[in-house]
Amino acid sequence: MSTATPAGPATPADPDPASPPSPWTRKHLLGLEELSREEITAVLDTAESFSEVSNRSRKKVPALQGRIVFNLFFENSTRTRTSFSLAAKRLSADVQDFTASVSSISKGETFIDTARNIEAMGCDVMVVRHPTPGAPHLLSQHVQSSIINAGDGAHEHPTQGLLDLMTIRRAKGKIEGLTVALVGDIAHSRVARSNIWGLLKLGARVILCGPPTLVPRSLERLGCEVAHRLDDVLHRCDVINVLRIQFERQQRALFPSVAEYSHFYMMTQERVRKAKDDLLILAPGPINRGVELTPEVADGKHSAILDQVHNGLAVRMAVLYLLGGKAPEAE
Ligand code: NCD
Repeated sequence: MSTATPAGPATPADPDPASPPSPWTRKHLLGLEELSREEITAVLDTAESFSEVSNRSRKKVPALQGRIVFNLFFENSTRTRTSFSLAAKRLSADVQDFTASVSSISKGETFIDTARNIEAMGCDVMVVRHPTPGAPHLLSQHVQSSIINAGDGAHEHPTQGLLDLMTIRRAKGKIEGLTVALVGDIAHSRVARSNIWGLLKLGARVILCGPPTLVPRSLERLGCEVAHRLDDVLHRCDVINVLRIQFERQQRALFPSVAEYSHFYMMTQERVRKAKDDLLILAPGPINRGVELTPEVADGKHSAILDQVHNGLAVRMAVLYLLGGKAPEAE
């Protein structure tokens, strides 16, 4: 899938730091559950204008000059942390990484005390990943900085949800009316939860597909359809987002074997052939080739996996800008 011709709104040459789109007035980004359709659209539109910055030979804009962004990661991350760091640097912010395993947390300091100490050094935005659901929400009540949730346990991962929405909107030109299946470990996936909120608010039909042990029926209450056989729903899907089995969050084996899981749920070339011609395949990564999707599908023409990574940078620039990018002279 190409990212060359965005289907979104016109892209201003230089995002103007003094005038963020009007629907956005929030200090924190904690989840997509609490955002309105207008707020989500405002982030996506702002991301489109920052995507243009990524295509320039000089990729920096001064929107966050003099601001300090701290990455507080209490869980592993490759894409998300790097993407936030690069996004902050492209906005000319100073970025500091904090890694829990080499911090005073291991000497008994509490999460909140650590954050307060970081704030005492000067900090405008904290990007927080934590294994406990609600940890970023808690922090938002104890520090002055803006908090961005970069993944809280199995709860939400809002910037991943936003970058998935951006990738779908760019490829399909819209989200309203599309049928999107989230396939795999819905129960333990924060990506699933952020996708569900975002997609439903923007008017998509959402199918949650996986083994009964990994797809709670209770999610039907949110307005989703639940299916246990991918082959039954495949032909109706415009987009399939394949989610990783979150083995690290499962307390016990929730399906007989990986081979059996792949037999029923892996995206293969054969399944792609049975689907719509313009099927879009997403995966948040890290991908496990041969478990959720075959290498041919991951690298094939329906896959937008690397477009997601590209769009993730623009989405994170947009979020950092909307939360922390007030022009200093305007204060
Ligand atoms: C996801 C996460 O950490 O929740 N990855 C990511 O942020 N790109 C999904 C996953 O780990 O499977």
